[in-house]
Amino acid sequence: MKICVILGTRPEIIKMAPVIDEIEKRSHELLLIHTGQHYDKEMSENFFIDLELPKPNYNIHVGSGSHGKQTGLMMEGIEEVLIDEKPDIVLVQGDTNAVLAGALVAQKLHIPVGHVEAGLRSFDVSMPEEINRLGADCCSYFYFVPTEESAINLALEGYMPENIFVTGNSVVDTCFRNLKIAEKTSTIIDDLDLDNLDNIITLTMHRAENVDNKQRLLSIIEALMELKDFNIIFPIHPRTKKTLENFGLYDKLEALPHIHITKPIGYLDFLVLISKSIIVLTDSGGLQEEAITLNVPALTLRYNTERPETVTAGGNILVGADKDFILETADKILNNEEFYSSMKNAKNPYGDGSAACQMLDIIEDAYNKNNLKIESPDNIMTSFKVKMENIDEDITVSKFEKKYNRIVRVVYNGEEMVFPKKDLNIKGSMVLFNEYNI
Ligand code: UD1
Ligand code: UDP
Repeated sequence: MKICVILGTRPEIIKMAPVIDEIEKRSHELLLIHTGQHYDKEMSENFFIDLELPKPNYNIHVGSGSHGKQTGLMMEGIEEVLIDEKPDIVLVQGDTNAVLAGALVAQKLHIPVGHVEAGLRSFDVSMPEEINRLGADCCSYFYFVPTEESAINLALEGYMPENIFVTGNSVVDTCFRNLKIAEKTSTIIDDLDLDNLDNIITLTMHRAENVDNKQRLLSIIEALMELKDFNIIFPIHPRTKKTLENFGLYDKLEALPHIHITKPIGYLDFLVLISKSIIVLTDSGGLQEEAITLNVPALTLRYNTERPETVTAGGNILVGADKDFILETADKILNNEEFYSSMKNAKNPYGDGSAACQMLDIIEDAYNKNNLKIESPDNIMTSFKVKMENIDEDITVSKFEKKYNRIVRVVYNGEEMVFPKKDLNIKGSMVLFNEYNI
């Protein structure tokens, strides 16, 4: 089987690494396309080295630019490669411009798309990433979702549960596979030469709504200036460096003795840095997941999150760009042992590190059953209705579907929405289903 993986930014490289490993381990043909959205050595090549990934077969070199230009160039470049190479399936990851470009182009060429980390929703359409998530999910064939919450998001939007697979997030695979190696090889903590190792905050921010907005950025920076009880390690994203310089704030921040600004750090060093931190302060998506995976409390510099499981689990607090709230919460973590330990011990909702393996099992199964095909149907649809019903019968989803020629879309058990796993007993639940009379 020929499997195409499209990636282009730091988080895609990190989260696709275990998927690429698994494709190679199972001796499938890998077609790796880099869009070139991230191009600095510290944002791209270093991760290929750290994670021992093969060189991409193609680099589209889209570089930086407006969303329309970047997405358009990616679509043009990806289409050319896919027409030439004809992979059996295309895998895209997350919510960057590559996921939208790749999914749109591939699905229109009738190449099935697997969206890794599908179904996340912040319900905030001012975020470019939310548009990419919605668009990519519209164009996908398989949905590899990290949690049941994401599966329910998709089911409620009308996606077919039979194509939605709760696999966990592949970031856990990457974390687990690399942490032990990192602990042996990384010298980052010694290199930082800090006076205190018990008060490290790892800080990252790059979200457009924070760093391109002077008022929000100033409010966050004022909080950072007052967090003098901590050593703040700030590997700076190139976007953030540019905006801080443009606003004349970079030198001010760099001059502070408790703030240590560095270039973006390699993955192995970064894993060790997070694991030795007392707090992760971030607006990153991946960091919210890694923090809870590594038992480090996260304070998220955002007003919403497409990772609400981390908040519900108790490991993540949304602090926005609210200076007082940031300071108050950081102080509580440092000085209130009970509070710190409850955040630290929050249960990781993102699986056991076997996401990539599960994805490959699903893809291989579909390939072996000749199901990796997008074809016009040749049976005439005679009836298609969506209905809701209270179920009194003692019956599982799978038996209900077979017995009544129905497909269950989503279940409400009287308390919450539930994803319709095949073995779920739906007695006493309200069920939304499609009825087929074909
Ligand atoms: C992109 C993704 C975002 C993801 C982030 C991961 C989209 C819409 N955004 O945001 O979802 O969270 O990557 O880091 O796809 N730059 C460099 N060197 C580089 C790359 C970028 O200097 O190698 C600078 C350029 O000035 C560029 C700016 O950073 O204009 C922003 O880069 P861009 O790729 O447009 O968006 P990110 O903020 O990185
Ligand atoms: N990361 C890293 N070095 C850094 C900063 C981040 O290796 O200096 C990793 C981090 O562990 C996570 C990913 O980059 O896996 C997150 O990328 P980013 O915050 O750029 O994107 P997002 O997750 O918000 O899309």
